[in-house]
Amino acid sequence: MESFNYIAGTLHCENTDIKAIIEKVGSPLYLYSKSSFEAHYNRLDNVLSKEKIRHLIAYAVKANSNLSIINIFAKLGAGADVVSGGEIYKALAGGIKPSKMVYAGVGKTAEEIKYALKSGIGQFNVESRSELKKINNIAASQGMTASIAIRVNPNVDPKTHPYISTGMKKYKFGIPLEQAFELYKDAESMKGIRIKGIHFHIGSQLTDLSVFNDAAKIIVEFLKKLKLSGIMLETIDIGGGIGIKYLNDEVINLDSYAEIAKRIVSVYPEALLICEPGRFMVGEGGALVTKILYIKDNGEKLFYIVDAAMTDLIRPTLYHAEHKIIPVTLKNGSGKVTVDVVGPVCESGDFLAKNISIDRMAEGNLIAVMSAGAYGFSMSSHYNARPNIAEVLVDKDQFSVIRRPETYKDLIKAEV
Ligand SMILES: Cc1ncc(COP(=O)(O)O)c(C=O)c1O
Repeated sequence: MESFNYIAGTLHCENTDIKAIIEKVGSPLYLYSKSSFEAHYNRLDNVLSKEKIRHLIAYAVKANSNLSIINIFAKLGAGADVVSGGEIYKALAGGIKPSKMVYAGVGKTAEEIKYALKSGIGQFNVESRSELKKINNIAASQGMTASIAIRVNPNVDPKTHPYISTGMKKYKFGIPLEQAFELYKDAESMKGIRIKGIHFHIGSQLTDLSVFNDAAKIIVEFLKKLKLSGIMLETIDIGGGIGIKYLNDEVINLDSYAEIAKRIVSVYPEALLICEPGRFMVGEGGALVTKILYIKDNGEKLFYIVDAAMTDLIRPTLYHAEHKIIPVTLKNGSGKVTVDVVGPVCESGDFLAKNISIDRMAEGNLIAVMSAGAYGFSMSSHYNARPNIAEVLVDKDQFSVIRRPETYKDLIKAEV
């Protein structure tokens, strides 16, 4: 089932009329389809099961950290990929078992490391020698051992936007393979460390499986070398990155993805495969719904000025991401226009789309920015003192507000 469909000319999320939601909750808002989230989890779970891979899907909380959404995945048995103390806190609050959490990130503070240890997370995905030493010192001083995987950087070009590429040496993430081998050997004798696994994540919005395959080949060789040297691994974490359809993007074949995963894990057949999808799980099941406040024609360009902004969805300006934008109510016969969809923020970079062809619409009409469930709300800001917008979860013909819209009071609650 498609999560967003027109029924009698009006866009619905599952069986719920979006116009009716806006009338109750107000514009703008994020809208999510519960069945889409569940279907994406199940699809990935099924392809990995089909390959008979013992696996854990650790949902990358950074894609969308709303508690109700984390809880949907928790109930399905997911773990979480977290990258901060705050994400550990939210994942716990969302019902994820700490033992199913993997903690990456190049700048873990001492406080965060202590919090992660106290919480009993599954493993630290370690990103530098200094970090490993720090984790060892903290764990040993508390009479504990920290389970770790080393995040290796296989140095392959993921052919995605540079800001979401990670697996090349020019980026800050992971440890080059040559150094990683030495680090594993050194970690063996660290009192506060238990070597548990390996981790790599080459980038996000991967649409070309050959780059994952290239990384896999490199990782397999490295794993053979590790095994030969006597290092036993219990987990192999292949990161996230599965791309989704925004406009004309190719999507990767999940069966082939699972076959590659199988090849990686076969070096240590007893190991648990961990994958950390974020965008794939929640991207296509979310839309940003926003109202046209004003239509402005400056003689050269036509602007639809809407009530959502870069503060709500930064992807277009940050990554030049292109989202499909569609009317909530179809305007048959009104003709098409070319417009920039822009927000109220005082920046020329505040746009949701540029030069798109869309139905000729009127002030007060609603539009939906599609495939906005991942890295949408979670990258919101308060710039221009804009309160964060509501999030609404649809379950068939029911909806619930899973984050109320913020008020002006929320804007000053942490300030003196
Ligand atoms: C370490 C790590 N794992 C998983 C993810 C999730 O990536 P995606 O949303 O593309 O699946 C990211 C995203 O940046 C990441 O950095």
